[in-house]
Amino acid sequence: MKLTPLKISDYKRAGRKIAMLTVYDYVGARILDEVGIDVLLVGDSLGNVVQGKSTTLPVTLDEIIYHAEIVSRAVRRALVVVDLPFPFCQLGADDAIRAAARIFKETEADAVKVEGGSNRAATIAALVDAGIPVMGHCGLLPQNVHQAGGFFIQRQREELLRDVKAIEAAGAFAILIECLTAEIAKEATEVLNVPTIGIGSGSDCDGQVLVFHDIFGYLPPEKERPPKHVKQYANLKAIITEATKNYINDVHNSTFIV
Ligand code: KIV
Repeated sequence: MKLTPLKISDYKRAGRKIAMLTVYDYVGARILDEVGIDVLLVGDSLGNVVQGKSTTLPVTLDEIIYHAEIVSRAVRRALVVVDLPFPFCQLGADDAIRAAARIFKETEADAVKVEGGSNRAATIAALVDAGIPVMGHCGLLPQNVHQAGGFFIQRQREELLRDVKAIEAAGAFAILIECLTAEIAKEATEVLNVPTIGIGSGSDCDGQVLVFHDIFGYLPPEKERPPKHVKQYANLKAIITEATKNYINDVHNSTFIV
């Protein structure tokens, strides 16, 4: 049965952990869904891992919609969440609702994700009021990379706790917390009624999320390993490299026989 934002929120009350991954294509989404992943995120990390760009900022609404349509069409059970790309939330509630409405009209997605703390609470409340389920995203905010001057562990306890509480009060059904210290992530998880889904934030969150290319080691040749916080479960780069060498050899040596 298809998961809903309400069911994901209820998982916390039931003490059931939430497994979430990013995905960008049909086959990936079909496999992850079939195996039982709870939440699939069409993240603006597609700028990094699919397009090979250094930040998420260039990702457009059309590009997110293109991938969200493919993924949401593939999925039977998982909740499909789609990132609102830069700068729709930064522009305010009207622009955020317009962008989210396009995502809902042109894809079969279930919810959007909004980066930001207390400063995005009014926009999140307006989205929720418009009938658009929102997953918050606090802590390290990749869309703020230029202002932050890089990607760092977040240690401002009081500010972070104020942020997650404001996002919960605004009506978010879950909050992704990125690169908080494990202690702050644990405290945030304890004070909130909605689930926290951590990335680089320790093991005490209500769920975990990782980026598809990182967890499966589908990395470009220049990248030795995924970021430090990632637990890598497979090494697709090694498998593809070996298989491609074998294929090239077969073709070059006339040993390619089907
Ligand atoms: O876009 C993305 O992949 C994210 C990660 C933090 C999961 O938001």
